[in-house]
Amino acid sequence: MADIYHIPALLHESVDGMNIRTDSICVDVTFGGGGHSRKILSRLGKSGHLYAFDQDEDAINNIQEDSRFTFIRSNFRFLKNFIKYHGVEEVDAILADLGVSSHHFDDQERGFSFRFTDSDLDMRMNQKGRKTAAYILNNYTEEQLANVFYLYGELKQSRRIASVIVKTRKEKPYKKISDLLDTLSTFVGRGEKEKKVLAQAFQALRIEVNEEMETLKEMLDQALDILRPGGRLVVITYHSLEDRLVKNFFKTGNFEGKIEKDFFGNFETPFRLVNNKVIVPTREEEERNPRSRSAKLRIAEKI
Ligand SMILES: C[S@@+](CC[C@H](N)C(=O)[O-])C[C@H]1O[C@@H](n2cnc3c(N)ncnc32)[C@H](O)[C@@H]1O
Repeated sequence: MADIYHIPALLHESVDGMNIRTDSICVDVTFGGGGHSRKILSRLGKSGHLYAFDQDEDAINNIQEDSRFTFIRSNFRFLKNFIKYHGVEEVDAILADLGVSSHHFDDQERGFSFRFTDSDLDMRMNQKGRKTAAYILNNYTEEQLANVFYLYGELKQSRRIASVIVKTRKEKPYKKISDLLDTLSTFVGRGEKEKKVLAQAFQALRIEVNEEMETLKEMLDQALDILRPGGRLVVITYHSLEDRLVKNFFKTGNFEGKIEKDFFGNFETPFRLVNNKVIVPTREEEERNPRSRSAKLRIAEKI
């Protein structure tokens, strides 16, 4: 296991954006290494409370005993049910710092990184999940595979990649990262381009394995339901697909960005945007924490 589990991105900007009072009821739906959660707790008084979710059981090792803190080892797609189960009707602020942690990339056994060629093609954030990257490569139809690489990796050669995968797996099923790297080797070019294409292909598979786009939509809808009027929803995204979804949702209350008008023709939206322009890390933060480079922060207040 790596020494540092995860360095939180946009820590101050995101926690400031939650507008926390000492008695706030907060939710961190992506606990990870607990960096954001610790900052949130430092702003809460005795009557405040923080509920934190993570679907990865490794995150449990980062929990610190605190009577104002409840950890929920679950997918955040069950946000509303769990919050209600704990007897809470409305919350004041919700933070989502999406995607995987550095721990996922650095732990060889998890199969998220193309650096570890001998690892299994796993990529599950929830180790109890049924669908691994190998399962997808060995069982999806050619069309399904092409869609995954095109929609989630934005890879132009997605159809050709899918066709090679379907042929290759007839000879030998996909098991190790090296199996996938062999297939991709003809599509990647060299140098920086190679890294970029591999990163896009791995990202695509990871998003599919963890159903990241579906769970994000479910969580955002439920977040809107359980936030009190005036409550804050704070989201950090790491790729354009997530960011587009969050941006649309904040602006219009739906994921397509469709502007809805009421009977009188007034623009109906459930949120007031706290930052019109997306917040990104400073150059100092990027230098200190290169993985924060793609982070984008959006903050909305429920009307
Ligand atoms: C970017 S990390 C969060 C890091 C955290 N903010 C910190 O300060 O250490 C994302 C975390 O969210 C978890 N996660 C991602 N998607 C999830 C989901 N749908 N449900 C629950 N946890 C999820 C991952 O397992 C990972 O630990």
